[in-house]
Amino acid sequence: MKIKKAVFPSAGLGTRFLPATKAIPKEMLPLVDKPLIQYCVEEAHASGIEEIVFITGRGKRAIEDHFDISFELETTLREKKKTAILNKIRHISEDLTYIYTRQKKALGLGHAVLCAKNIINNEPFAVFLGDDIIDAKVPAMKQMIKVFTKYQTSILAVQRVPKKHTHMYGIIKGKKVADGLYKVEDVVEKPEKNPPSNLAIIGRYILTPEIFTQLEKNKKGSGGEYQLTDAIKGLLKTQAVYAYEFEGERFDAGDKVGFLKANIHMGLKNKETAVELRKFIKRLF
Ligand code: G1P
Repeated sequence: MKIKKAVFPSAGLGTRFLPATKAIPKEMLPLVDKPLIQYCVEEAHASGIEEIVFITGRGKRAIEDHFDISFELETTLREKKKTAILNKIRHISEDLTYIYTRQKKALGLGHAVLCAKNIINNEPFAVFLGDDIIDAKVPAMKQMIKVFTKYQTSILAVQRVPKKHTHMYGIIKGKKVADGLYKVEDVVEKPEKNPPSNLAIIGRYILTPEIFTQLEKNKKGSGGEYQLTDAIKGLLKTQAVYAYEFEGERFDAGDKVGFLKANIHMGLKNKETAVELRKFIKRLF
């Protein structure tokens, strides 16, 4: 089975970035010159995904406009012969199909994914959490699809985190089956004490459609919300789930410091900004 669809839960209120996110979705905050969400959409595209399913909410229309063709803007750029910029804005909308549905109440990540049930139908699919920006030689989702192709079951992206941070993540207990690959035995969402390991779930998942049965049975969990991690725990009773330690650098762009680090990292990689930015940073120390 090929992974063709990716779900992007994007209904969060972005409270950690207020007041910047009062009138702008947090997904649209820029890393250098591209909105956060575009990095993940490009990763999906580079991994062979064909359809992007955004789970949005109120105040998220800018996302829809961003991935649409902007006729006026394109005409103006063409007239002014600004071909390079024109190509930059065109390529994101051309090869992918975008589908939007709304999560009417902010009831948690599990509930957001469940909102995609009728769009996904009966096929395995990817989930991208837009806060997690991963810079990798081989796109993280492409690495995961390779693992999926072999095991044909749900795959979670994981990364080791310091023990003191385990309370911020879904944490797995797993049995190592190969280099960087674990058969998941248990998962706990944001354990307050006794985390089963320091292998944290990062915002990339490949899930089989059986997850929807679990999401429908789901009860409120951590933070009083319907958690995807709890549904994955249910999935463990019916199928093997693997956790894959992807190669690449991950930034938590949902956090202020993580967002700034991601901006510096991308700024130092960007041809237009790298030289001046490096000079500036050197001058600071
Ligand atoms: C979500 C998931 C959590 C995961 C994390 C990765 O939490 O619920 O299991 O480890 O994303 O970024 P959130 O950061 O949305 O609170």
